[in-house]
Amino acid sequence: MEKNFKRTLITTALPYANGPVHIGHLAGVYVPADIYARYLRLCGKDVVMIGGSDEHGVPITIKAKNEGVTPQDIVDRYHGIIKESFKGLGISFDIYSRTTSAMHKETASEFFRRLYDKGEFVEKTSMQLYDEKANQFLADRYVTGECPHCHNERAYGDQCEACGTSLNATDLINPKSAITGNTPILKETKHWYLPLDKWESHLSKWILEGHKEWKTNVYGQCKSWIDMGLQPRAVSRDLDWGVPVPVEGAEGKVLYVWFDAPIGYISNTKELLPDTWETYWKDPETRIINFIGKDNIVFHCIVFPAMLSAYGDNFQLPDNVPANEFLNLEGDKISTSRNWAVWLHEYLVDFPGKQDVLRYVLTANAPETKDNDFTWRDFQARNNNELVAILGNFVNRAIVLTHKYFGGKVPAAGELQDVDKAAFAELAEIKASLSENLDTFHFREALKDAMNIARLGNKYLQETEPWKLAKTDMARVETILNVALQICANIAIAFEPFLPFMSAKLSKMLGLEKLDWNTLGASDILAADAEIAPAELLFEKIEDDAIQAQIDRLEKTKEDNKINSWTPAPQQPDVDFDTFMKLDIRVGTVLECQKVPKADKLLQFLIDDGMEKRTIVSGIAKYYAPEDLVGKQVCFVSNFAPRKLKGVLSQGMILSAENADGSLVVCGPTGPVAPGAQVK
Ligand code: MF3
Ligand code: ZN
Repeated sequence: MEKNFKRTLITTALPYANGPVHIGHLAGVYVPADIYARYLRLCGKDVVMIGGSDEHGVPITIKAKNEGVTPQDIVDRYHGIIKESFKGLGISFDIYSRTTSAMHKETASEFFRRLYDKGEFVEKTSMQLYDEKANQFLADRYVTGECPHCHNERAYGDQCEACGTSLNATDLINPKSAITGNTPILKETKHWYLPLDKWESHLSKWILEGHKEWKTNVYGQCKSWIDMGLQPRAVSRDLDWGVPVPVEGAEGKVLYVWFDAPIGYISNTKELLPDTWETYWKDPETRIINFIGKDNIVFHCIVFPAMLSAYGDNFQLPDNVPANEFLNLEGDKISTSRNWAVWLHEYLVDFPGKQDVLRYVLTANAPETKDNDFTWRDFQARNNNELVAILGNFVNRAIVLTHKYFGGKVPAAGELQDVDKAAFAELAEIKASLSENLDTFHFREALKDAMNIARLGNKYLQETEPWKLAKTDMARVETILNVALQICANIAIAFEPFLPFMSAKLSKMLGLEKLDWNTLGASDILAADAEIAPAELLFEKIEDDAIQAQIDRLEKTKEDNKINSWTPAPQQPDVDFDTFMKLDIRVGTVLECQKVPKADKLLQFLIDDGMEKRTIVSGIAKYYAPEDLVGKQVCFVSNFAPRKLKGVLSQGMILSAENADGSLVVCGPTGPVAPGAQVK
């Protein structure tokens, strides 16, 4: 049974302000949350949508240190970028605030203090790595050392990026402080723990028995956490960036970022609604929905609910947590540090006025049940073949015909024929399915339903062919175009949650002032004689060059990453002098050079080796033009056994050094040498 509710509080995961937001964040959290919020508002429901930046945590302090600025500088920069870009994409937050706000610090601090006073925490001391030179405890990320599993020497204290294993800083072999390079010592420290075990049966009842309707990925993760048995979790850290622990003797300690961040939902609601915020959090007739990505499930379904329960005072737990899986980009995991992403603020510059295209593609590919992939080719195809060819095309035809036959006024409908009634019957079915899918967070399916209205419109015009009847039966044409325009009005309503920019433009053309979900499906949204503005294209084709530019940029990122992560190859085992002397390396002068036919990698050299002229073939054609090396001296292995390459007998091997990107540079003496001189 659906619970009766009076209002909905929508929260969206607070993005870390250590970088801009990318399409993965959008597809996972913000686009679905925005669709849902807009839908409820169109239904006339009481809804608030809360957002904000998550501005604490260790990665922000590391970034600040690397750039030589303060953590506050970092979060000011990214909070600004994130907030602006969300606005640019039409994400309709009722508030977008931040966890460095005074309201948040006060709220989070009070929250901790109340739990502390109620005796909800357990105090424990443990041994943590400490940097004596920097005089501070080291967060796991601040320790590097050798991975105990794969022996990568640059593993971090929380994870080895070479083998992917998650680690504790105390596992590392030969740990070093990332701040001073010092070897840290183990030192005792005290922290406060939230005993999740105390809440285990409460949470188990609430989720495993009470919320079987949750998405299987969410329910499944909760079940496996609970089945494993919940453990106490530290809610404080030794760090100088965050909300100070409001307890005497806790100098140098702050609230753990995952303790303060979800409280940000409450702080931001308070900031938005100073007088009524409590009804949104404490009235059982409020429905709370948390939109998050899959990596946040445990915090929203286990930890934060335990915190709220420990606080008491009637704080309500979420009704649903429709977490999404991840979106990949061109087949690879999106990564902020590797710059493997499509950044929202850049998209808005590269594709001005095309916010809805991105919203459409991200919804159509939403990773609702499994990880999904974004590709630029798919982006282009969906725009050109769906938005332009189906949606834009139908609306354009209906409006152009209205201007052609009726001077831009909505013609009155006569008696409806079967084909007209069938169209409205189908519309009613679509509305039912669309509403059901939106109510149950199936946004991909919902978008397909909405698209089916445009498909229906095209089919209707194809079947009724008003342009043919215009010569013989104008009364019938009036009805047909009235129906077609009503379908356009239905499109303006149905798409508002998904494509709000298109919907606003279309509404304006149709003279629709206020959209109302309750009128969806109706055949009389537009009154006869109402003025229709001249047709403007809703979408335009995206050409290959715009797409290629994006693909090229990603290719370049891949190259840059290869270069940045390049390290010299490990050294070969030792050789003795005699072994070395077996290689007869000499200097020769290049007399001639040409391309080898039908081999795009090979150049054929004629070398003066001091005694005679010899031919050597070398795989460097990608890096040198034939004329580049003529007259230059090069080093070559003169006793390299002759071999045939593409039909040419090569007598030796020219020595080259290989760059990080794989490019080759030929090696030669640094001053003039007689041809034939030995290199040793
Ligand atoms: N900043 C976290 C992330 O990006 C999400 C925080 S959600 C909140 O994974 F509930 F803590 F706010
Ligand atoms: Zn490893």
